[in-house]
Amino acid sequence: MIILGINAYHANAAAAIVVDGQLVAAVEEERLNRVKYAAGLPARAIQFCLNQAGAKLSEVDHIAIPRDPWARLGTKLRYAMRMPSFALDRARVIRRFAGIREEIAAAFEIDPSAIRAQFHRVEHHRAHLASAFFVSPFDRAAVLSADGLGDFASFMCGAGEGPKITALGEVAFPHSLGIYYTALTQYLGFWKFGDEYKVMGLAAYGQPAFLDEFRRIVRTDPPFSFRLGLEYFTHQNNGADMTWRDAARTPVIGRLFSAFLETRLGPARQPDEPLNQRHYDLAASMQTALEEVLVACWNGLAERSGQTALCLAGGVAFNCVANGKVFDSTPFEHVYVQPAAGDAGLSVGAAFEVHHKLGGARGFTMDHAYWGPVFSSSDIRAVLDHTFSSGEADISELAEAGLVQSTARHIADGKIVGWFQGAAEWGPRALGNRSILADPRRPEMKDTLNRRIKHREAFRPFAPSIIEEAVGEFFEKSHPSPFMTFAYPVRPEKRSAIPAPTHVDGTARLQTVSQSASPLYWKLLRAVGDLSGVPAVLNTSFNDNEPIVCRPEEALDCFRRTRMDVLVMGNFLLERRSAAPEKAHGRLASHAD
Ligand SMILES: [Fe+2]
Repeated sequence: MIILGINAYHANAAAAIVVDGQLVAAVEEERLNRVKYAAGLPARAIQFCLNQAGAKLSEVDHIAIPRDPWARLGTKLRYAMRMPSFALDRARVIRRFAGIREEIAAAFEIDPSAIRAQFHRVEHHRAHLASAFFVSPFDRAAVLSADGLGDFASFMCGAGEGPKITALGEVAFPHSLGIYYTALTQYLGFWKFGDEYKVMGLAAYGQPAFLDEFRRIVRTDPPFSFRLGLEYFTHQNNGADMTWRDAARTPVIGRLFSAFLETRLGPARQPDEPLNQRHYDLAASMQTALEEVLVACWNGLAERSGQTALCLAGGVAFNCVANGKVFDSTPFEHVYVQPAAGDAGLSVGAAFEVHHKLGGARGFTMDHAYWGPVFSSSDIRAVLDHTFSSGEADISELAEAGLVQSTARHIADGKIVGWFQGAAEWGPRALGNRSILADPRRPEMKDTLNRRIKHREAFRPFAPSIIEEAVGEFFEKSHPSPFMTFAYPVRPEKRSAIPAPTHVDGTARLQTVSQSASPLYWKLLRAVGDLSGVPAVLNTSFNDNEPIVCRPEEALDCFRRTRMDVLVMGNFLLERRSAAPEKAHGRLASHAD
């Protein structure tokens, strides 16, 4: 049985395909159409999934759509009466989804009647819960989804057992932890879609000096709910004004914080205004208040469900700083966060929800993130032959052992290495297949990377990958974090060993690398450890102000545009002959990704 999951008409459009209960492929449309956070119908992603499954669209049995325009209809109608623009927006969404069969058929240039699949609507947060629990290693677990908004709710929690998830509670619009975080991110002067990561990094520089006020902005509502102080926000009156229907554009979100918030906390920071201690303390207060609410919800859910394992999903599950505190603050002993915890992951969740609804058994665990496009050695050779001038770099083709040794030597020597291997990662993190790697022992490496390649704000941390056998030696916790979704404190005596990816508060958002899930990457880290004594690398995504590279052509283009020293693609190792003059690439944009 072939089930296609599609997250469409929404940021992070994506597709996933499940065949006989096994995930075969999953990819975000942005990796393929090169538009960050691409919305619209993910036609390229659907095509890729079909190719991987060896199936035609006409052979798909079920299509799962993680959106139910009819969910929470009463609440929606109440808002529609107050806000005509909201009613119009809902009507447009319902029309759009009603025509999805025709739109898919048009994209594939077939008659709609050729799509014989049955369409299923899965409510947004049910799909989030499914995206975490049904691919987790647990047979029973508590499950929690928190995001900005989806199907008019922002939060759902429940208990999963075998092929079934029972919802225990939900929070509907306008109360939303995601909107809370986005509104305060805007207030701190960061307006781009996805900037919440930046404020999470900023929080480490401050103290929660404004916590009393933030406890009025968001507060817990036991046992596992919360409320916003709505006077601090505008979305309950204006709607969450999100312009993300156009696939060709990155989403834009309208202002979410109110004038009242500025009267209480002072004027909002302008985007070009220098950051100061007040901003750091505001960010720290916001993060601390969020953590207080999450800890209360986690504990309430632990008590109600009686479970010791927890699965997290929704955009809030990317708050790795909060996630890192689950183990000390709750009875949960095991936590699973799927690599695409945000809305891209809905495609996987909806597909598995349908699989189990139709009587399918559990039998799949997502223990790695490599579900995207893969390129063979001959694909890579063809790209190099076709587009690469021999004067630019020395190229060698090496067997695996030599490739690992040479790459490890370059990293230990302080070179910046582009590492392109195997299938592209699912989710927003580069996890060792589309990564830029560097020596974590060098304190200056963060600035070097920013100057030469990433051009990010100086306050943002980089992250380490470390072999799982060494996690406890370097970190105060050793729970697996294979998808970079947890931040743990680095042991004080080890902070000088990995200064480059250690944040100002002594934590790091680590990727734990296992030999079984990432064999080649694990070998590389071990070889780095043999040379340097530290079996870890600084790992940042392989891109330069663009979606993470997917194809060899994009990796090569990024290598050429930036000041990377070495590019390793498959078995080919390219070493730049001479460093380009710094000025030629010295963009100083302070808000690039
Ligand atoms: Fe969501």
